[in-house]
Amino acid sequence: MAVALALLAAMSALSSCTSPATAELTRLEHPVVDGAPLRLLVVGDWGRKGGYNQTRVAEQMGKVAEETEIDFVVSTGDNFLENGLAGVDDMAFHDSFMDVYTAKSLHKPWYLVLGNHDYRGNVLAQIDPALRKIDSRFICMRSFIVSAGIVDFFFVDTTPFQLQYWTDPGEDHYDWRGVAPRDAYIANLLEDVDAAMKKSTATWKIAVGHHTMRSVSAHGDTQELLELLLPVLKENGVDFYINGHDHCLEHISSRDSPIQYFTSGGGSKAWRGIFQQNEDKLQFFYDGQGFLSLELSENQARFAFYDVFGEALYHWSFSKANLQKVQSSASVTEE
Ligand SMILES: *[C@@H]1O[C@H](CO)[C@@H](O)[C@H](O)[C@H]1NC(C)=O
Repeated sequence: MAVALALLAAMSALSSCTSPATAELTRLEHPVVDGAPLRLLVVGDWGRKGGYNQTRVAEQMGKVAEETEIDFVVSTGDNFLENGLAGVDDMAFHDSFMDVYTAKSLHKPWYLVLGNHDYRGNVLAQIDPALRKIDSRFICMRSFIVSAGIVDFFFVDTTPFQLQYWTDPGEDHYDWRGVAPRDAYIANLLEDVDAAMKKSTATWKIAVGHHTMRSVSAHGDTQELLELLLPVLKENGVDFYINGHDHCLEHISSRDSPIQYFTSGGGSKAWRGIFQQNEDKLQFFYDGQGFLSLELSENQARFAFYDVFGEALYHWSFSKANLQKVQSSASVTEE
């Protein structure tokens, strides 16, 4: 199935004022119908060959996608458990992706980031466009932007941020090709993300990464992201940060900024049974499997979490009081 995508302005980066190692992030233009709301599903931490309820989550995603006529799917990473893809011909691509998300309604572009488990395999294979020849839905890159009319999605490669993977990997091997050394990679990435956000004129700015910013489940907060990435999101008025990594569904509100954190990591194995409070305001936590649905219009964002029975567990909506994006005048509605 053909996915209509236009690659724009990816090459024009290296002006004299940027350091040689930084580059403009690849920007994909997702075609939209003017005035129509944008609808998408978000799933994370899923690739287990259908196991641990992955198939049940996929079935319900298919139904919700059909009812809401989604535009695309976002994956928050850990696409192939436990060790990513071995190569572009790894059968896990069929067993965990193509043969699981079979509903016609899910035959839309999938925009995917990498998780730490993806970094334990052959990362270059998972971001290789050769996979799109096998299934044109699969659009996976390290960090990139998807522009869809009123919303810009900023996909950020968060695995290299976590220091412990570099200094204390234990038995695990991480594929750092094209990423090392860590400090330079992160510094350049933050610069690129900041520049892209400053250029954005979209009504909504949404950041997507694998790792948690705030979480009450097993992994808790990711300190490196709170220290390094969060200030960039705050400075640029990012509305939402959406992640996976913890195998659950969460909504947490920042107490010192308008940012809302959503965890959608319930694509397969879940039920860790761990709860640890943090300083921000917990709005919703479900320890089991499921996914997130999101609808965005000019002045409203509507979120809903669904479980393996297709039941909507939680609804939350947010209205922008005006289109000037004056954050202090934004109002929050809880349902
Ligand atoms: C699958 O989902 C059901 C319903 O939430 C749950 O009872 C069951 O434990 C889940 N199975 C696994 C392996 O997580």
